[in-house]
Amino acid sequence: MEQRRLGREGPLVGAIALGAMGFAGWYGPSDDEAGMAAIRRALDSGITHVDTAEAYGQGRSEGLVGRAAAGRPEAVIATKASRGRPEYLREAIDRSLGHLGMERVDLYYLHRVDSEVPIEETMGAMADLVAAGKVGAVGLSEAAPATVRRAHAVHPVAALQTELSLLHRDPEAELIPLCAELGITFVAYSPVARGLLTGRIRSEDDLDPADWRRQVPRMQQGNLEENLARILRLEDLAGRLGTTLPALAVAWVLSRGEHVIPLVGMSRPERVDDNLRALDVRLGPAELAEIDEILPPGAAAGLRYPEALMGGVDR
Ligand SMILES: NC(=O)c1ccc[n+]([C@@H]2O[C@H](COP(=O)([O-])OP(=O)(O)OC[C@H]3O[C@@H](n4cnc5c(N)ncnc54)[C@H](OP(=O)(O)O)[C@@H]3O)[C@@H](O)[C@H]2O)c1
Repeated sequence: MEQRRLGREGPLVGAIALGAMGFAGWYGPSDDEAGMAAIRRALDSGITHVDTAEAYGQGRSEGLVGRAAAGRPEAVIATKASRGRPEYLREAIDRSLGHLGMERVDLYYLHRVDSEVPIEETMGAMADLVAAGKVGAVGLSEAAPATVRRAHAVHPVAALQTELSLLHRDPEAELIPLCAELGITFVAYSPVARGLLTGRIRSEDDLDPADWRRQVPRMQQGNLEENLARILRLEDLAGRLGTTLPALAVAWVLSRGEHVIPLVGMSRPERVDDNLRALDVRLGPAELAEIDEILPPGAAAGLRYPEALMGGVDR
């Protein structure tokens, strides 16, 4: 399977990565056995990078990831800290390693830039965790370009994890080129737009009552119909290309640069097989132009997060 590097000097990983947020029930009921089977299928198929966070069920997702990846040296694991204060980070890494059942994690992210702590202070503490051998490399999530530059000046940022899909193309303008310039891997989360680009969500009623996505404006009545009209056209293109809608969506993310890794939420093994089809999709200038016409930057209707959470992103 095609491989891409995590950071300038980090390990090579499969070009598609597996996200384990769904294991904690964010998108409706989850099934622990199916989630762990998804990770094992992924590792067997060359998807070696697995992403989790302490915030995903207060260690629940980390625990499942640790169990599924035990005895699999090819697994390259990332997890995330919720806050940026040095004292917090020193305790949080030990909690995460405890949940994972590991002595070291390959990549440790700051989940959201902490508005109360200068990024230099956070990066200094992260560098100490690297020096202590608890963390292989440091990442940021949803950081703005100026923050990425400031952080990278203190300690190399190996990966920037930020939302990127055909429904959220903003990072193409500045962040993706910046990452290429600095040797940072752009880990693209929600590449199938939290399920919208799989064709399985046709109305709000397709979401479980406890599904967090019901709060996302993009998935709510009015906006959803508008987005679906474009998604149906994309599905038609996928059919003409002999592939599926999610495979086309993941292939488009892969086409954004050699340093871009789509991080797909996959909570059951059959998702792995489906999404691997993205590696066979070839997007030439004609296909990319058609995609741009269907879903140009800024085309999606509705915010990508509930209004109250928008202050935490791109900070
Ligand atoms: N840093 C951050 O702030 C942040 C925020 C959000 C997400 N993330 C990370 O990014 C990962 C992915 O993001 P995400 O889960 O929000 O969005 P996503 O990958 O765009 O979408 C995941 C959803 O699509 C479904 N799906 C995936 N492939 C499919 C296929 N081939 N056919 C049908 N359905 C398919 C999944 O179903 P199943 O779950 O049933 O497999 C899940 O409901 C997360 O797991 C997490 O690791 C990070």
